[in-house]
Amino acid sequence: MDPHRHRDENGGNANGLPAKRRRSAPTSISAAEIAKDFAHHDPAVARINNGSFGCCPASVLASQLQWQQLFLRQPDEFYFNRLQPGLLYSRTLVKELINAADLDEVSLVDNATTAAAIVMQQASWAFAEGAFRKGDAVVMLHYAYGAVKKSIHAYVARAGGHVIEVPLPFPVSSNEEIIFEFRKALERGKADGRRVRLAVIDHVTSMPSVVIPVKELTRICREEGVDQVFVDAAHAIGSVEVDVQDIGADFYTSNLHKWFFCPPSVAFLYTKKCSALSSLHHPVVSVEYGNGLPMESAWIGTRDYSSQLVVPAALEFISRFEGGIEGIRKRNHQKVVEMGKMLAEAWETFLGSPPEMCCSMIMVGLPGCLGVSSEKDALKLRSLLREEFKVEVPIHYQPWKDGEVEEKNRNHGVTGYVRISHQVYNTIDDYYRLRDAVQRLVHDEFNCMKFPSK
Ligand SMILES: Cc1ncc(COP(=O)(O)O)c(C=O)c1O
Repeated sequence: MDPHRHRDENGGNANGLPAKRRRSAPTSISAAEIAKDFAHHDPAVARINNGSFGCCPASVLASQLQWQQLFLRQPDEFYFNRLQPGLLYSRTLVKELINAADLDEVSLVDNATTAAAIVMQQASWAFAEGAFRKGDAVVMLHYAYGAVKKSIHAYVARAGGHVIEVPLPFPVSSNEEIIFEFRKALERGKADGRRVRLAVIDHVTSMPSVVIPVKELTRICREEGVDQVFVDAAHAIGSVEVDVQDIGADFYTSNLHKWFFCPPSVAFLYTKKCSALSSLHHPVVSVEYGNGLPMESAWIGTRDYSSQLVVPAALEFISRFEGGIEGIRKRNHQKVVEMGKMLAEAWETFLGSPPEMCCSMIMVGLPGCLGVSSEKDALKLRSLLREEFKVEVPIHYQPWKDGEVEEKNRNHGVTGYVRISHQVYNTIDDYYRLRDAVQRLVHDEFNCMKFPSK
């Protein structure tokens, strides 16, 4: 079967361009159909960590296999006639989804890590070629994703950029706390006659997970004369509303394999047309070098491009849900808040942020008696839950600030938080499994000090 068939069934034209926005199906998918689409998930495991690696339904995997076979069947034909129209069609769908103004603003890349490297590499050239002065600042959140932080150091700090971190309070109770810290960091960035050249802002931080007021922070950057804003929105599409024109950043990336049902791995990188578009290049240089980022990204040598070609199939899957992606996102949010509250009540703890500051993931305090006292403890506890209790959930370690007894009391001794996700395949039993596992550990007087030291 030809995977291009999706195009025709959904009102596309001969060039592979969609004729109109697709609508969600009048009757929504049943629980049994959802279970069938995710039957490849290990039934013995409670997967409440969609945030890390996402998920891919059987129908999208089937489409991916068709694309792979199309290539293997007749590579020449695929390379000359199928690949580029297919990628163009995926980009066209993404453009519509994120409300980009122009198709040239949308590139497909492997993942958010690659997108960050593209943006940071461009900034490093600006330092090297004299457009930015050595010592000028780059501002990023303290809770920026590890790979993105390293990318900033590898490309920008090495080229002479001065890196400033925005400390973020956690647990957090309002956007104002974040905005306050961000403004202070910009002030620090501008001290001693420096300019802030680049701000790197997460749309949804990974750990701890919080939705950041990204539109507001971008506006502040503009007011304060920051040259470029890059939004790392790895978790955004499918879990928060994405309108790139409304947000107004120069660069914005989101994975499609986290919350948009694509297989690993595919992300989009939006680059605002008037920004440094022509100076952006894919770090893997191919024969397409110099033909614009979308084209450079569309051929980085011989490889499997199928994950980028199944965006239409992912949308097809999404259209089976009432309300399409908005409906999925809203229901996931409601459910994750409900489950977070249920866990917090059972463990006599609290949520790490108010519900309106979370998306399809929420942080829940673990009982303080578990004694999470380091990142290593958090990792070991995560392994214990996975191996002994068959629950996949990441754990965040949040130390108290030095000597702050008050904070310890306020937070009931909590130093560990689980980050729970909700996606369409989850059921209430997944969260009960986690609740009961933690209650069992508490009942057995488990403490992280009991972990072997190595
Ligand atoms: C905020 C954030 N940025 C970047 C990434 C990197 O995504 P990927 O591994 O798909 O490149 C992640 C992954 O979880 C993330 O949470």
